[in-house]
Amino acid sequence: MKIIIGSDHVGIEMKALFVDLLTQQGHEVVDIGPSTTESVHYPEFGFKVASEVSQQHFDRGILICGTGVGMSLVANKVDGVRAVVCSEPYSAYMSRAHNNANILCVGARVIGLSMAEMILNEWISTDFEGGRHQVRLDMIQDLTS
Ligand code: RB5
Repeated sequence: MKIIIGSDHVGIEMKALFVDLLTQQGHEVVDIGPSTTESVHYPEFGFKVASEVSQQHFDRGILICGTGVGMSLVANKVDGVRAVVCSEPYSAYMSRAHNNANILCVGARVIGLSMAEMILNEWISTDFEGGRHQVRLDMIQDLTS
């Protein structure tokens, strides 16, 4: 898959781990930064990733900040984006199987790197089940169309 990833300054270390893991799995990964721990504003990076996913330039996006919450608020402002914050693997699995989430948000201050790796693997490898779940996603889309 083509995957775009971004963070703020808090998410640098986790982002580097994710880039390595995804690259090892054979995915094409584009890291939009930042690349240092100098303080940045997460909405800039969140909006960039969400816009690229919305325009279907990438299959999936990943965003990391302190909690994942700020990034999810930004990403879900963009049409066609279904961004989820996950702190454990079950929600990561279900967010793909039932919600067809196209952006994963993770909190680098909330969970450790080992948990983050399990979440990433579950989220990346799970397919959307469609069917009745697509009907429900269409209902969500209709709310703002
Ligand atoms: C940065 O201090 C922090 O606010 C940010 O990483 C994120 O947690 C926002 O939701």
